[in-house]
Amino acid sequence: MADWSIIYDQWVPKEQTLREAICTLGNGYIATRGAFEEAKAEPDLNYPGTYLAGGYNRLTSEVAGKQIENEDLVNWPNWLPVSFRHPGEEWFHMSSVEVLDFKQELDLKHGVLLRHVHFRDSRGHESKLNTRRIVSMAHPHSAALEWQLTPLNWSGEVEIRSALDGRVINSGVARYRTLASKHLETLEQGQHDEENMFLVVQTVQSKTRMAQVARTQVYLNDQVSGVLPQTKIEEGYVEHLFRLQATKGQPLRLEKSVLIYTSRDWATSEPLQDACVNIKRQGTFEALLEEHKRAWQRLWNRCDLDTACNAKVQGVLRLHVFHLLQTVSGHTVDLDVGVPARGWHGEAYRGHIFWDELFIFPFLNLHLPAITRELLMYRYRRLNEARSAAKEAGYKGAMFPWQSGSNGREESQVIHLNPQSGRWLPDNTFLQRHISSAVAYNVWHYYQATDDIDFLSYHGAELMMDIAQFWSTIATLNQETGRYEILHVVGPDEYHTEYPDSEEVGLHNNAYTNVLAVWVIQKALQLKEVIDDSRYEELLTKLHITPDDLTRWEDISKRMYVPFLEDTRIMAQFDGYDQLQEFDWDTYKAKHGEAMRLDRILESEGDNVNKYKASKQADVLMLFYLFSSEELLSIFKQLDYDFKPENIRVNIAYYEQRTSHGSTLSKIVHAWVLARSDRKRSWVNFEMALMSDLKDIQGGTTAEGIHLGAMAGTVDLVQRAYTGLEIRDDVLWLNPVLPEEMPCLNLQLRYRGHWLELNITCHKLIITFDRGWSKEVKIGVCGEVHTFRTGDKKEFDIQR
Ligand code: BGC
Repeated sequence: MADWSIIYDQWVPKEQTLREAICTLGNGYIATRGAFEEAKAEPDLNYPGTYLAGGYNRLTSEVAGKQIENEDLVNWPNWLPVSFRHPGEEWFHMSSVEVLDFKQELDLKHGVLLRHVHFRDSRGHESKLNTRRIVSMAHPHSAALEWQLTPLNWSGEVEIRSALDGRVINSGVARYRTLASKHLETLEQGQHDEENMFLVVQTVQSKTRMAQVARTQVYLNDQVSGVLPQTKIEEGYVEHLFRLQATKGQPLRLEKSVLIYTSRDWATSEPLQDACVNIKRQGTFEALLEEHKRAWQRLWNRCDLDTACNAKVQGVLRLHVFHLLQTVSGHTVDLDVGVPARGWHGEAYRGHIFWDELFIFPFLNLHLPAITRELLMYRYRRLNEARSAAKEAGYKGAMFPWQSGSNGREESQVIHLNPQSGRWLPDNTFLQRHISSAVAYNVWHYYQATDDIDFLSYHGAELMMDIAQFWSTIATLNQETGRYEILHVVGPDEYHTEYPDSEEVGLHNNAYTNVLAVWVIQKALQLKEVIDDSRYEELLTKLHITPDDLTRWEDISKRMYVPFLEDTRIMAQFDGYDQLQEFDWDTYKAKHGEAMRLDRILESEGDNVNKYKASKQADVLMLFYLFSSEELLSIFKQLDYDFKPENIRVNIAYYEQRTSHGSTLSKIVHAWVLARSDRKRSWVNFEMALMSDLKDIQGGTTAEGIHLGAMAGTVDLVQRAYTGLEIRDDVLWLNPVLPEEMPCLNLQLRYRGHWLELNITCHKLIITFDRGWSKEVKIGVCGEVHTFRTGDKKEFDIQR
């Protein structure tokens, strides 16, 4: 681990699938896992995967006697294959040679994946193999690799093949392997001209077509050799085979340049035609690399966080920014895709979009807000589906799906496999209705960071008002208590989806859900003061929101019920939580260690996690993550609950002891809520969150795809929690308290059309306001508001 790179200096086969996820290269349009060029899918060893942002397909499988349809992120043809052999012998494979020296490096600064292997084969031939690979951040359709073989103690004939392989299926996640997995059919493959081969495939249900065109050139002494390949064509596979004479000590170098176009692209005619025309315009690997590096430089100029922490912290923070930008970038704009919880890095959760946006958008809002806007448009364009879902469930307004894919219908699986017990079980996590509040929250916070009133008026407000209307109709008035309730839902803690021994699914009055519903309704009412009257009226008419509805909104925003435990300072996660049994953490940990998925373990032992006061992840504590104490207290005040600031600590302490952190998101929240009150424990949680993927702390999940929410969440902790950044009353508030482990923090922020630079140490905050439009901006530092204009630079002493 270095400041700007991830380095693996040993070849460890059992780590390979994890490394492939970590070494994925992408550009917001496509992503390719960091599998070796010669690798084919082999369980627990290699899984080359190429994914298209938003490239989904649906298939039906028979599971436990039921027909189940799932929408998957499709594994598209592998463009990587390059390998060599001595004529008549086996193709090169890392497992069949003796590896004498190995280094794989993910260069974060330039977005390059490099490999160096020194190996000896069974004949005693020693060779060096060096590869470099990019997925271009400059040109979204372009990917390229350089492959160089140097014979060290031998000369002789070699065959080198370069291929496009469409005979792939989705088999990256062991749990899904019994399900239907063949998403592609081949339409065409062949030789376009002397240099270029192509492959065209199509998904069987969504009918998305992809064309890949590849040019492979062999270089001798830095000149294109002119050696023409022999072409091999099979159904779904096209290969160029070069026969070459290798000479001891002389590198054989090959460049492979690939273009990928699909029927979903804009500014194109037909995918294959466009790919074939443009491949001729592609420069050398070096030329592509230069443009790619410059594109990354532009991104890093805006998005880097320089902390002067040790390489372990600094490097991982950069790794997280890197994967965020590889998943969503400028190239994502206009693709009509959401941000997937697991990146486009693997097939876990089928590439679906969850509430993880809540953890991801804050970083984008303050660096590349045009991307947040685009990702919010993904939700906006699926409003009709959310409206139909609400209607079918008996409500009004918009009810967004817990898991979303192509068209915004609910994509949560109906049953899921517990790999621990081998049993297929009903999956009721789709009852997480709080997802809709996350959409509204994200709209509002995008607006706060950007002041983009046009977006708010024309798209955001519609989302927020329709979601408020949903909450208003799902809430029911309890005549006895005089308070509104929300029944049969699931909160963020997915371990609790029903009451033990109950026939019904869902829980009543999840505190997080109820408070968020109130917040959404309050904000939807407030919109009247923010957007034009005429637009507000227009929306009321369009969404069929009547004066009676508005009266009900008002009423709910004052009389929503929030459950509390007997100790009335502590919110109950849901009604009846206090009746659950305490969980014996000590005995469990002695038996299973820190194993975080205790739901699966308990089920496999014939027990049921629903019985216990044991949470998968932060639930009540999410409230302290999303709201400042002022904001939360004002919600409680309006609801006429006597919730005091000092109660926050008591709630944190209570739930901290009862959380297993079975989701990587959980550590983010715990690090955040402790950031001011217990900096040491906060840092421990932060470090754990940092290692979520690099060290695969959930034990095997990262190989199936990174955890983008946790990645973005760690970066956002640095950006907002440690700087005390909050946007309130049109002021950007800063109140930095850096952790002791972080000597300084230098970063740039985009705020309402301006670039500002922050340089923070434990004593000083310097704000430079040097780019952007010339409007004034108000920045509050440690309680005092200052007006900034272009060119201003101000220094502040920070008092602890
Ligand atoms: C977590 C959810 C999260 C999902 C996708 C689940 O394990 O419980 O909160 O949205 O993963 O990251």
